[in-house]
Amino acid sequence: MSNYHIKHLEEYFKVYRKSIREPEVFWEEIAEEHFLWRKKWDKVLDWDFSKPEVKWFQGAKLNVTENCIDRHLSTKADKTAILFEPNNPDEPAEHISYKQLSERVNQFANVLKEHGIKKGDRVCIYVPMIPELAISLLACARIGAIHSVVFAGFSSTALATRINDSDCKMVITADGSFRGKKSIDLKGIVDEALESCPGVENVLVAKRTKADIQMKEGRDKWLQPLLGNASKECNPEIMDAEDPLFILYTSGSTGKPKGMVHTTAGYMVYTAYTFKNAFQYRENDVYWCTADIGWITGHSYIVYGPLANGATTVLFEGVPSYPDFGRFWDIIQKHKINQFYTAPTAIRALAKHGAELLDNYDLTSLKVLGSVGEPINEEAWHWYNDNVGKGKSPIIDSWWQTETGGIMITPIPYVTPTKPTYATLPFIGIQPAIMDENGGELKGNQVEGRLCIKFPWPSIARTIWGNHQRYKETYFSTYKDMYFTGDGALRDEVGYYRITGRVDDVIIVSGHNLGTAPIEDAINEHPAIAESAIVGFPHDIKGSALYGYITLKDSGEYRNHDNLEKEINQLITDRIGPIAKLDKIQFTEGLPKTRSGKIMRRILRKIACNEMDNLGDTSTLLNPEIVQRIIDHKL
Ligand code: WT7
Repeated sequence: MSNYHIKHLEEYFKVYRKSIREPEVFWEEIAEEHFLWRKKWDKVLDWDFSKPEVKWFQGAKLNVTENCIDRHLSTKADKTAILFEPNNPDEPAEHISYKQLSERVNQFANVLKEHGIKKGDRVCIYVPMIPELAISLLACARIGAIHSVVFAGFSSTALATRINDSDCKMVITADGSFRGKKSIDLKGIVDEALESCPGVENVLVAKRTKADIQMKEGRDKWLQPLLGNASKECNPEIMDAEDPLFILYTSGSTGKPKGMVHTTAGYMVYTAYTFKNAFQYRENDVYWCTADIGWITGHSYIVYGPLANGATTVLFEGVPSYPDFGRFWDIIQKHKINQFYTAPTAIRALAKHGAELLDNYDLTSLKVLGSVGEPINEEAWHWYNDNVGKGKSPIIDSWWQTETGGIMITPIPYVTPTKPTYATLPFIGIQPAIMDENGGELKGNQVEGRLCIKFPWPSIARTIWGNHQRYKETYFSTYKDMYFTGDGALRDEVGYYRITGRVDDVIIVSGHNLGTAPIEDAINEHPAIAESAIVGFPHDIKGSALYGYITLKDSGEYRNHDNLEKEINQLITDRIGPIAKLDKIQFTEGLPKTRSGKIMRRILRKIACNEMDNLGDTSTLLNPEIVQRIIDHKL
């Protein structure tokens, strides 16, 4: 394990330099030493960003679950792999050992096989944060099926779109989910979605809430009895390094979500290596990431990265506010959490309820605090550092994306000195570039522009499912031979990076990545609405919230606005999910447009953010008079 843990800053620089000068030698050593291969690769890296094409460890054969489970059995059979903390604190936590995980994954994999699932088939997973969720991912990986997890807060329409986009044959779900005091009828949502998904043959239903649900004869089956009858042995499917491991959807600048495809070997190597170093995970630590497995954070840093390291990873079903706002601290105390990874929006929500609450809990087990999903503002950073970490646990503000598969820019705790609001230095192997708007690289320090990555890393998404052209246009066409992240960034006087936020049509609300186009499409379905434009504006808890400018078809006569607002938000809830609801809706007679008819969102964004003195030149607009009218009626 010589070069697996970075121990001090000089070592970071040394290893970083090597990873840049000789990336193939570097990653080959990591791959050789720390993983189980059925056959080694013929070539470490093959790449061409102009196609774009990236292949890591070509020719190698492996199974990710052998690396995440089987190889730990000789030394860690009884160690807790997954520690499940239920929504209700009175329900006992469940410790699933590596041996039990192995058995449960194999049983699940056998059930999938009995239902005709084979290597390469797509399986949609729409399951709340219960052990079956993590186990279902691994069961797919065991037999080479490609999982496509859809966050169990998405609506039936959003679910159906994703099921159909990748032709999933099967859906795995649960009777319902617990979220604080509420329970949600997940199976009902699945039933509704499946009315428009002819390709789905079977639905496996985990029992959780015991809600009274409809089971469709021949299609739907209860999962637990099937698992009970299945064998605990299941030979792993031997996969090629570049076989797809999973698809995960993310929003983009058109209405259709992008199914990002991650492949087997590179994803495994990178998530495992980043997990170990970015969290300084040591044997016997208990690690907790509060994300949902429905997002990439959960895939990489609840399931694959931790398990590949034989770690204990906590899976929490509930919400930070139930039964009260001390729940996170209660869990940290109860399970003696060592590494805690959460989102700025959660920190802000908890900060609002006061630091006094923390005095009731023993948080001395904490060694590392993580932040992810959106820029962390200075106030939240200090609150986290002072009250949760007591100034002793470094905060790793880790920047990355669904597309990058793993952490890209982050301090390494106890190695990289932290700086509030800065993600600091690139991780080993990552070559960031800051670009100006004309395509030139801004070299040196103290520059600000758009963030690109110059060289492939092992866990970069390889394509968009079914649409390689869109992959190329979205990520590799803005700047020649570079991966464009869609984020703005600056590099300070010592070379530290600060992410300044999205520069495209994506808005991050409570750490969730939302495209404006799908929201506008949903709104425009309303018969009374002519046009809409969504922009983000600052919100003290969500980070950003959504502001909608909406024009009605019959602009002279507005109908009852209160009702209309409700109908708009209902449409958004139905088409996407409640996370995409608008905080503010302004009805207006028109939207500012360029002469070619494009909506000038930049102006609308500035108005929503109260930056009226800085609107720029509006005289070239098709309808410059509308700007003042929008300002006059601003909410
Ligand atoms: C976008 C990606 C990374 C997993 C969760 C989100 C923003 C993410 C940070 C951070 C500033 C951040 C970026 C990025 N973002 N982490 N530490 N500081 N911004 O994955 O849903 O694909 O969203 O989240 O804007 O592009 P995602």
